[in-house]
Amino acid sequence: MRPTWGAALWGALLLAWGLRATRKGPPEDGTFYYGSFPQGFSWGVGSSAFQTEGAWEQDSKGPSVWDTFTLSGRGRAPGDTAEVACDSYHRVQEDVALLRELGVTHYRFSLSWPRLLPTGVRADGLNQKGLRFYSDLIDALLQSNITPVVTLHHWDLPQPLQARWGGWQNASMAALFRDYADLCFQAFGDRVRLWLTFADPRTMVEEGYETGRHPPGLQLQGTGLYVAAHHIIKAHTLAWHSYNSTWRGRQRGLVGISLSCSWAEPLDAGDPEDLEAAERFLHFCLGWFAGPIFTGDYPQAMKQNIGRKSVEQGLERSRLPAFSRQEQGLIRGTADFLGLGHFTTRYVAARSWPAGQGPSYRDDQGLQELADPRWPAAGYPWGIRRLLHFAQTQYGDPPIYVSENGVPQRTACAQLCDEWRVRYLRGYVNEVLKAIKDGVRVRGYTCWSLLDQFEWDRGYAERYGFYFVDFASTVRPRYPKASAHFYKRMVQANGFPSAQEVGRWHLQALESCSINSQMLAAEPLRSHMQMVTEIVVPTVGTLCVLLAAVLLAVLLRRRC
Ligand SMILES: *[C@@H]1O[C@H](CO)[C@@H](O)[C@H](O)[C@H]1NC(C)=O
Ligand SMILES: *[C@@H]1O[C@H](CO)[C@@H](O)[C@H](O)[C@H]1NC(C)=O
Repeated sequence: MRPTWGAALWGALLLAWGLRATRKGPPEDGTFYYGSFPQGFSWGVGSSAFQTEGAWEQDSKGPSVWDTFTLSGRGRAPGDTAEVACDSYHRVQEDVALLRELGVTHYRFSLSWPRLLPTGVRADGLNQKGLRFYSDLIDALLQSNITPVVTLHHWDLPQPLQARWGGWQNASMAALFRDYADLCFQAFGDRVRLWLTFADPRTMVEEGYETGRHPPGLQLQGTGLYVAAHHIIKAHTLAWHSYNSTWRGRQRGLVGISLSCSWAEPLDAGDPEDLEAAERFLHFCLGWFAGPIFTGDYPQAMKQNIGRKSVEQGLERSRLPAFSRQEQGLIRGTADFLGLGHFTTRYVAARSWPAGQGPSYRDDQGLQELADPRWPAAGYPWGIRRLLHFAQTQYGDPPIYVSENGVPQRTACAQLCDEWRVRYLRGYVNEVLKAIKDGVRVRGYTCWSLLDQFEWDRGYAERYGFYFVDFASTVRPRYPKASAHFYKRMVQANGFPSAQEVGRWHLQALESCSINSQMLAAEPLRSHMQMVTEIVVPTVGTLCVLLAAVLLAVLLRRRC
């Protein structure tokens, strides 16, 4: 259901009123906390295969659903494809050098399932060149003292699995994923200790099977996404058990999952209905996957709401599938840690008007999400601390890695001086530190992302990177932004030593970016010079040689 103008206007009024009525969070939220992270805290950046690699049909890689979707112009940014993206497939050494420059202790990246298994099916054969590519990347990281954190599946499903089996709608996908995961454990597990099975599966199924904005582009309102998620949870479970029973003894690694969710702040914290709506938001967003994996079943709020609505809609069974007793036992406890992705905060109010037409994920939640029109550029950093607390109390105090956190720039042009991102980063990381002081077991922080990359249905219109990528140039040059400099200092210091020190980083970061901006501005001139040396000089040179040869021939002829 798309929000109507009436609803939007109503929402805006409600928000204006609500923000007046609520406080801006507890007072300690506003103060900055100077201090260090625990020793051995892991600092990293993230990326994913489809968004960065390019080389979409090289070296026997099979097509993914994203290749098919973008190449047929079905994205919201038609014409933007990831055929080359950051060209990271050919620039691994360059990327690893940037990671060394940042000084991070881990790098989170994903394996492309169709690059390793072109048809998606293990029995159909492994692509040795794909294997070699990831093996080399892992070795290069280890040689640089950087821990690889590997996502098995970040949205780029092999197209044949979609075409032949209907993708995640089909229960047989769970075993196919298990076989793929098992292959990865076997091939890379001697060197990889930290695994994530899936990355943000909620967005994958919501956009793929409900809104249709992502492949496979289906709009199976209020049904398809629940079925897909059900199979994904089973796939995760099988992969975890495969690791636990076959590989853990030898490899001693950890297998988790990365789940992304906004924090939901009740619009009016004094209104019990808004409070309940905000909690419901979190259960539909995070609990949908974390509930089964950590506690054995879907959250009560989901079972109740979807069940009730299904009855009202005249259905015999709930649109939310159910796990059997036996399945619950198998699923419960299948994460050695929680990977938590978080980008922003939403204000949430209970919805008090009738639902729209037909069933939908939005309708099932029975709430209204509101964006703050005065949204501060640096976000609402306290949201991450509250979300970490929620995860700690709901899911039995698991070890947590912040697996994604960042902010995009919505412009195609180069702005290396991203002071607003520096402020976002400083604020959010500080709230993670506060959560650790509160007792949440946060083990690492991963900023999203290393490079500006292909942003799914947004194409190249959003830039999340520490490094600006010039997508107009064939060599895809990378330039550090101010935030890269700031992050590097924070990682080096393992936290925030003092106001004076942090203030100094801020100034240095801005100085460094103004120098880099000048270099970038000179880029057209440089590539012009490059063209002169690469094309004009050889061409002129060849012509001279030819001319000389002709003259020589003429001279020789004369002599005879
Ligand atoms: C699911 O996959 C199997 C093959 O494993 C296929 O025979 C079946 O038709 C598929 N079911 C659906 C609903 O697509
Ligand atoms: C994981 O493997 C260990 C060792 O084989 C076993 O004792 C344990 O029961 C397994 N855990 C689960 C939940 O199956």
